[in-house]
Amino acid sequence: MTTKNTYILAIESSCDDTAAAVLCNEQVSSNKIATQKIHEQYGGVVPELASRAHEQNIVPVVQAALNEAGVSLQQIDAIAFTKGPGLLGSLMVGASFAKSLSLGLQIPLIAVNHMQGHLLAHFIKDASSCQPNFPFLGLTISGGHTQIVIVRDYFDMELIGQTIDDAIGEAFDKTAKNLGLTYPGGPLIDKYAKNGNPKAFKLPKPKVKDLDFSFSGFKTAVMYLIRKETAKNPNFIAENLEDLCASVQYTLCQILLDKVKKAVKQTGITSIALGGGVSANSEIRDVFTKAQSRFGWQVALPKFSYTTDNAAMIGIAGYYKFLKKDFSDLSVKAQSRIHF
Ligand code: KG4
Ligand code: ZN
Repeated sequence: MTTKNTYILAIESSCDDTAAAVLCNEQVSSNKIATQKIHEQYGGVVPELASRAHEQNIVPVVQAALNEAGVSLQQIDAIAFTKGPGLLGSLMVGASFAKSLSLGLQIPLIAVNHMQGHLLAHFIKDASSCQPNFPFLGLTISGGHTQIVIVRDYFDMELIGQTIDDAIGEAFDKTAKNLGLTYPGGPLIDKYAKNGNPKAFKLPKPKVKDLDFSFSGFKTAVMYLIRKETAKNPNFIAENLEDLCASVQYTLCQILLDKVKKAVKQTGITSIALGGGVSANSEIRDVFTKAQSRFGWQVALPKFSYTTDNAAMIGIAGYYKFLKKDFSDLSVKAQSRIHF
């Protein structure tokens, strides 16, 4: 007997990427992203421009995802979309599109929490997948969030630590901006850090209680260092770019590692899964990989294509909700803030 495949069309539009994916059960048939270049010239995401670009991009991106998957709209069993957290205007474009399609095709609508999506991306089945075992500690590090979460089951997640101000991605991006690098600066810091000395500049590690994080003091400290040194030597940045990037990256990485060590001690959970755009960072990946032999942890790193915002992660979360028949009605609202 053959069981019928389930096709989920997933839409992600929480920030500045318009993304659509088609999943066949737990496998990704297509995963398309239209990255909005318009924000580069502003050095950060401009919400109003993001909403407009989503509106322009969403139909072609969905069409491209269906074409690549070789699946027609009539074959789709359910539409999953990001309900939040994120920029409200951006979320509303994806939510409205998903609702219309669900209504037009008369198929279920599934609302997905973006942060759960980042962690559930680990359960996408492909040749290289290595899935964490429950319970595990999820470390979600992105441009909007920095969280430590106990993941007991697919949708049983408890937030046990988070940033009290900036997200770690902002620390990367704003520091990069101060170094004259383009937005988003995280990947560029990663690139320049490869040839730099991580101990060249001693940068402060914030003292924050429990499992919480803070990055605004760090960002300010780097800014003052740059100002002070540039006043003495106008070529300071150019002459020290690689060392500055390496020192910034090293310190941010140590801040994460220290908190995860504390979380492991507190919870007794030694299985860790990283998620979010910043988990693409090569040093973070390296340090957490080495932590397996250093501390006896099991560490799951997401595939690069599932680190930054994408719709495949929304699709896998949607698939598990489909199995539970956890559907939303058409009155469901996008929410800029949302908890687990
Ligand atoms: O998850 P994501 O795509 O969007 C949010 O939900 O925020 O994360 C974007 C963030 C940006 O801050 C970007 O600079 C950062 O991920 N990022 C990196 C790297 N690749 C992306 N940060 C450091 N190193 C990288 N290689
Ligand atoms: Zn994200």
